[in-house]
Amino acid sequence: MRLDKFICKSTDLSRTEATILLREGRVIVNDEVITNEATQVHENNSITLDGQVLTPRPSRYIMMHKPLNTVCSNVDDSYPSLFRYIDIDNVSNLHIAGRLDADTTGLVLITDDGRWSFNIIRPTKQCEKVYRVSLRDPIADDVASKFEHGVQLQGEKSLTLPAKLHIVNAKEVLLTITEGKFHQVKRMFASVGNRVVALHRQKIGGISLDIEIGQWRYLRDDEIKCFGS
Ligand code: URA
Repeated sequence: MRLDKFICKSTDLSRTEATILLREGRVIVNDEVITNEATQVHENNSITLDGQVLTPRPSRYIMMHKPLNTVCSNVDDSYPSLFRYIDIDNVSNLHIAGRLDADTTGLVLITDDGRWSFNIIRPTKQCEKVYRVSLRDPIADDVASKFEHGVQLQGEKSLTLPAKLHIVNAKEVLLTITEGKFHQVKRMFASVGNRVVALHRQKIGGISLDIEIGQWRYLRDDEIKCFGS
């Protein structure tokens, strides 16, 4: 991991503060003063700040039930940030593995482990995300087959990857996709002439949402292992 990140994970310092200390020559890696914050280090390296040995905190893995009208961002935007609901230290070190739109509710995974979140986000990993979708118009008979074969979204070069549709009732479906293109679910239904009126993510890979709206909890070991940590 990058040296500035290692320092943040081992202290209460922000990235900017860590960079300033590094530039001042106060960080030693394996007996050598290092001033470049992008230097790659390993947890086995001996790393000190002002002579104190740094030991990184264990990574954190969190599930959150995102409420309506919140933004998946570390800062408030047109709506409050999701992180306002998470009352733990150093939330600025956390990031979201697969953002949802402000008007989408449901399962959000949050971590400070970049390798873990990469396994969720990267399309080649084929991680399944299940959405419950409420539609403006009754679902047409041919949509399941169209989604299975892939549809052309406006502005995209390739068809969407195969997606599974399960019909709950005329205007409510479960959609399973393995990609995370911008507004993907809304654009998929737009491509078949329908419109999403409410969207809720209920599952990512082997992790199912099981907490009330606005709540969060740490993931269990078996849930963390779903994405290889
Ligand atoms: N697809 C969308 O259109 N919006 C989301 O928030 C997630 C997937």
